[in-house]
Amino acid sequence: MERLEHALATAPERLEAAATLDELDALEAELIGKRSVLSEMQRSIGTLPPEEKPRVGQAVTEARRRLTDLLSTRRSVLERIAADALLEQDRVDVTLERATIARGTLHLIQQTIDEVCAIFVGLGYDVAEGPEAETGWHNFDALNTPPTHPARAESDTMYLDYGQEGDSDEALPGTESLLRTQTSPMQVRWMQAHRPPVHVVVPGKVFRTDTIDASHLPVFHQIEGLVVDTGIVFSDLRGTLAHFAREFFGPATTVRLRPHFFPFTEPSAELDVSCFACDGGEAGCRVCGGAGWIEMLGCGMVDPNVLEAVEYDPAALTGFAFGMGVERLAMVRHDIHNIRHFIDNDLRFLTQFPS
Ligand code: DAH
Repeated sequence: MERLEHALATAPERLEAAATLDELDALEAELIGKRSVLSEMQRSIGTLPPEEKPRVGQAVTEARRRLTDLLSTRRSVLERIAADALLEQDRVDVTLERATIARGTLHLIQQTIDEVCAIFVGLGYDVAEGPEAETGWHNFDALNTPPTHPARAESDTMYLDYGQEGDSDEALPGTESLLRTQTSPMQVRWMQAHRPPVHVVVPGKVFRTDTIDASHLPVFHQIEGLVVDTGIVFSDLRGTLAHFAREFFGPATTVRLRPHFFPFTEPSAELDVSCFACDGGEAGCRVCGGAGWIEMLGCGMVDPNVLEAVEYDPAALTGFAFGMGVERLAMVRHDIHNIRHFIDNDLRFLTQFPS
């Protein structure tokens, strides 16, 4: 009895002194475990004289309740302290700056291609891409360009293979393989694969044996356009390109067509757009140089020979075609004076055109 009273009297202080859950576990075993004074007394109750049993039994029960309460109170406190310590240890400093990777942008050439294609998609055109390695037939012959045409010379065109030899030991025209010099061969491929009506634009890379300077790259981009249907006339071509020019350069833009020559169109023309930087012919204008007009693209009515080459009926169908240089479009619009900026990959240039 005395030992139990002592245990009860010293318990609060000893519990307070337990600083960890392990220490508390040990103390718990000592106070209420199997080998504790308390349990010992409980076990001995059976051997006591009957008149003592109730008093001792009651004292043991009360002592157990009291000690259990004290232990559980202390346990909550220690658990809380342990949890706080864990949180402290796992603390994340949300004010710490993280290493950032700058987000890139689409290249201005891609942005320009996307924008031009979107204008034509708005008119119901398909968008298609074609192979960069072409046959001489697709790039030239089917486009009404004779074997003797100067563009077919090695000084202009990059050949991958000079083609099969004919009887005269000379290569048979059309069998060469080459890097396409224009996106126009995709006119041929598209018509061979589709029945009219045709409305398609074709963006892509083209290749020429040009030496790099401020306005030439041996690899550059074009967007081809082709419409073929019954009853297509020259004013459809003009109206379409005038719409394109207003969308791309601004609503006040006007266009003019100048006669020109391309093998695959007849008649052919070059399209000029009115200068958007000056009010038409301002002396020394930085964009048009005072001319008031900017040369923009080539176009014309599809030559019947081209329709014949793809087995379209030239008696029933007419069409128009156009081709524009993407670098040129971007340079004119953004006042860029050196085409080399597009391939230098200088971030000071590229980041001026966030997409
Ligand atoms: N293929 C021509 C070039 O590279 C551009 C061109 C002109 C395309 C007239 C056309 C066109 O479709 O009708 O210079």
